[in-house]
Amino acid sequence: MKKLKNWDNKTWLSSKSYISQFNRFLKTKINLNKNSKILDIGCGRANIISSLQQKYKFKYKAIGIDIVKNKNIKKNIIFKKNNGIDFLRKDKKNYDLILVKQTIHFLSPKKINLLLKLAKSRLATSGKLLIFSLKTKNNKIPCFKKMKNKLESSLKRDEKLLKIIKKNLKNNKKSYFSFIVKITLKKYIKMIENRYMSCLLDVSNKDLFNGINELNSIYNDRIKFKDTLICIEYKK
Ligand SMILES: C[S@@+](CC[C@H](N)C(=O)[O-])C[C@H]1O[C@@H](n2cnc3c(N)ncnc32)[C@H](O)[C@@H]1O
Repeated sequence: MKKLKNWDNKTWLSSKSYISQFNRFLKTKINLNKNSKILDIGCGRANIISSLQQKYKFKYKAIGIDIVKNKNIKKNIIFKKNNGIDFLRKDKKNYDLILVKQTIHFLSPKKINLLLKLAKSRLATSGKLLIFSLKTKNNKIPCFKKMKNKLESSLKRDEKLLKIIKKNLKNNKKSYFSFIVKITLKKYIKMIENRYMSCLLDVSNKDLFNGINELNSIYNDRIKFKDTLICIEYKK
């Protein structure tokens, strides 16, 4: 699969309001302070941990890892270009928070089992592992037909992956994080052109072009929808 590069490149997912709402949600899950150690697996441009670093001034800088080193990764964190498994195999620190947000669908079931085993072993006493993934049923992400089909089959696969995750993380808790996205059609189409979601990575240029025409005919100038994530929470 091609690499995902534009997910959080000037999109609602990197907006101040999204990050602050997401961090307020995190606050309901874990009490962080300047001594907390945090790790974000699949951090993208590290917008989330960067804002946490800014807020809590962690003594041990927040660590973000990703298999893609994007150009504009936040500078106030430690970034490592790596995959979650290899990093956790070498790294010997224990973390108060391990975050895996919208990344698990890139992994095979075998790799998820391994990643979770390693992540659990790297949690500090009363540390938390938080896994976020797109809501699998009745998802509201605006799509053209071909994109919708791809997204639906990816969400079906996610359901299987979520079962594997829940099996691995005994006594996990499930909750939802929602964000109301308000975006102009023009900006959303730019995101589609930039193939912001993994289900767009292998769509042909022709299908993308037709899909954009389809979106232009369905939506008005402004789009509003609810972006909802499932959160699986595991405490040591
Ligand atoms: C959908 S983006 C989510 C980025 C960020 N967590 C967020 O929510 O804004 C998924 C990220 O996971 C990264 N990724 C995919 N497989 C990975 C792996 N095995 N280890 C670490 N990162 C991975 C991708 O490069 C991409 O940046």
